[in-house]
Amino acid sequence: MNKATRKAVIAGNWKMNMTPSEALKLVSELIPAVQGKNGCEIVVCVPFVDIPAVVAAANGTPVKVGAQNVHFMESGAYTGEISASMLKECGVEYVVIGHSERRQYFGETDETVNLRLKAALAAGLTPILCVGELLTERDQGITAEVVSKQTKVALLGVAPEDARRVIIAYEPVWAIGTGRTATSEQADEVCGIIRAVLADLYGKDTAEAVTIQYGGSMKPSNAAELLAQYNVDGGLIGGASLKASDFTAIIDAAQ
Ligand code: PGA
Repeated sequence: MNKATRKAVIAGNWKMNMTPSEALKLVSELIPAVQGKNGCEIVVCVPFVDIPAVVAAANGTPVKVGAQNVHFMESGAYTGEISASMLKECGVEYVVIGHSERRQYFGETDETVNLRLKAALAAGLTPILCVGELLTERDQGITAEVVSKQTKVALLGVAPEDARRVIIAYEPVWAIGTGRTATSEQADEVCGIIRAVLADLYGKDTAEAVTIQYGGSMKPSNAAELLAQYNVDGGLIGGASLKASDFTAIIDAAQ
């Protein structure tokens, strides 16, 4: 496998935006706009309460549905949490795991990210594992170490055939929601470091097969250049995924 044969995935991360009726309006605009655009997989990662409406609207279209988090236990006394089997039964196919906002505001650690990742894989969901350094870490010159450790711990105990099913999103924390995008060289470099970690853990074939996205202020004006990089196989898009026309323009850049 190489860049030409790897699966490109453009995923929107709506974060805590869109009520069910707003969600329905957005996907109703998106679906006709992306008809026939088979050059990448198209995913929208929506708030839990939007899942039923978006799954119903997207059924039979190129738009796939993801959640933004999943708990690692199957069931039990975990008030407020959602399990992988619940998501699966609702028609969810993807789930974002370890987003920096979860790490920053909700106490996610590499260890809980690992548990969530394994729960998602066991339920047949495709995890979108987020890794990325803080600005202070980049300034200290420890980006490679930080991202390598996050990737290794997240994948502890994950078998090679399952590792191939994981999508990894490199999201430098300083680029998320800031309008400050990593340069295409920076994005390619760190996605390449992640691929090298995968090669160490699972061998070159698996490393070359895994989809690695860039995320952090990706928008229509910079998507084509970022997506053209050898190690960048798609994008995880926050702000620009909330407007059908912007998200479609990024999908166009991935064709
Ligand atoms: P952004 O968010 O595109 O708004 O920077 C990306 C993300 O958090 O996944």
